[in-house]
Amino acid sequence: MEKPAKIAPPKGRLGVLMPGMGAVSTTFMAGVELVRRGKAKPIGSLTQLGTIRLGKRTDGRSPLIKEFVALERLSNLVFGGWDAFPDNSYEAATKAGVLDAHHLALVKPFLSKIRPMRAAFDREYVKNLNGKHIKKGKTKYDLALQIKEDIAEFKKKSRCSRLVTAWCGSTEIYLTVDEVHSTPEKFVEAMKANHPAIAPSMLYAWASVTSGVPFANGAPNLTVDIPAIQQLALEHNVAIAGKDFKTGQTLMKTILAPGFKARMLGMDGWFSTNILGNRDGEVLDDPSSFKTKEESKLGVLEYILQPHLYPMLYGKIHHKVRINYYPPRGDNKEGWDNIDIFGWLGYPMQIKVDFLCRDSILAAPIVLDLVLLLDLAQRAGMRGIQEWLSFYFKSPMCAPQLYPEHDLFIQLMKLKNTLRWMMGEDLITHLGQEYYD
Ligand SMILES: NC(=O)c1ccc[n+]([C@@H]2O[C@H](COP(=O)([O-])OP(=O)(O)OC[C@H]3O[C@@H](n4cnc5c(N)ncnc54)[C@H](O)[C@@H]3O)[C@@H](O)[C@H]2O)c1
Repeated sequence: MEKPAKIAPPKGRLGVLMPGMGAVSTTFMAGVELVRRGKAKPIGSLTQLGTIRLGKRTDGRSPLIKEFVALERLSNLVFGGWDAFPDNSYEAATKAGVLDAHHLALVKPFLSKIRPMRAAFDREYVKNLNGKHIKKGKTKYDLALQIKEDIAEFKKKSRCSRLVTAWCGSTEIYLTVDEVHSTPEKFVEAMKANHPAIAPSMLYAWASVTSGVPFANGAPNLTVDIPAIQQLALEHNVAIAGKDFKTGQTLMKTILAPGFKARMLGMDGWFSTNILGNRDGEVLDDPSSFKTKEESKLGVLEYILQPHLYPMLYGKIHHKVRINYYPPRGDNKEGWDNIDIFGWLGYPMQIKVDFLCRDSILAAPIVLDLVLLLDLAQRAGMRGIQEWLSFYFKSPMCAPQLYPEHDLFIQLMKLKNTLRWMMGEDLITHLGQEYYD
């Protein structure tokens, strides 16, 4: 692929639409507002804090990413979305219990004005939620058309020049790719026939992509990970990315596992368990939603450790992931890992990781970065799957002939090299032989 012809400048306002306005979404919006008002710092956001080295190490050029590429400014972001509960974003943020009273008080007027539109929601797909703030329609197709109207209406009312959709809704039941997902035509027929393989998240994806709006999928649901939507993304010149925000325990896995492999240390097993008590935890308490999450979390080690290349080191790993809904913890999850590794001559060792993390605090900067980078990709004419954004996902989407890259450090290099490539800078290989000639 040639370098994108030209990156259109970010003119006008950028609207962020989120299906699902719960813990992650409200923490993201509140955070952006606090940062805009100088009340907090955007910690964890690569687009806001990261730098990028350009040229040789001796050149001393390391601008901020947001100064190197033309990203939308935070002051130009506006927010909207849908939820199956009618709470405004202040009420939702209060119930989510992520931010403390001091931060919530500062953003109360701002968040109170953000009210969700009615959701395309079906309890069949998220069994543990009983939302009543929902759209009515005879078929799934009718609902998808209503979402398209919402998108157009939001764009007009909020006077945005561009939009990005970021799915921050619940994890749906486990679905696999079906024949009805194979082409755009079959997909439309299936929506009209209320086919069970069409989940609500796919209706938002279809509506966004056919409206020319890029889509990021923060949950492990299939959503945009099906041929029909991917083909539509190419036809409508829309950028898509997914899936499942890489936070908490999986983030730790993709930091640690590449290190063990780099040093050729073997592994017998990795046992991960979590306790969490937010609405996400409640949804994941249902086995069919947990199965979707489990699949997303399990792939990571297999791809990083490559047991087919290193059968002696990684051929017999016991990898288990458990999520336990435990209300007293709220959003402050505890992720506990026991890793059984072995070293020189096969001697066993153990590593214990106890991560007292805050899920939505880790997810919010990911939403921000994805919104800004998808908008950049869109303005650069990059369409279809944006694999260079794998850095942000537990289950990165990629072309069918490829395997997903899970190693956080390779993902970061790929992301930064893509930015260099977009701007016509030399790619960085870390070779450096020229210093010793
Ligand atoms: N918190 C994290 O760190 C993290 C990390 C990775 C992925 N995720 C995923 O992000 C998603 C959001 O997480 P959260 O903690 O904000 O959960 P949450 O339960 O607080 O919010 C999700 C919201 O989505 C709404 N919803 C469900 N189905 C919907 C539909 N069809 N249309 C509109 N709204 C719908 C729910 O009513 C709920 O308010 C979940 O799928 C979660 O698995 C979260």
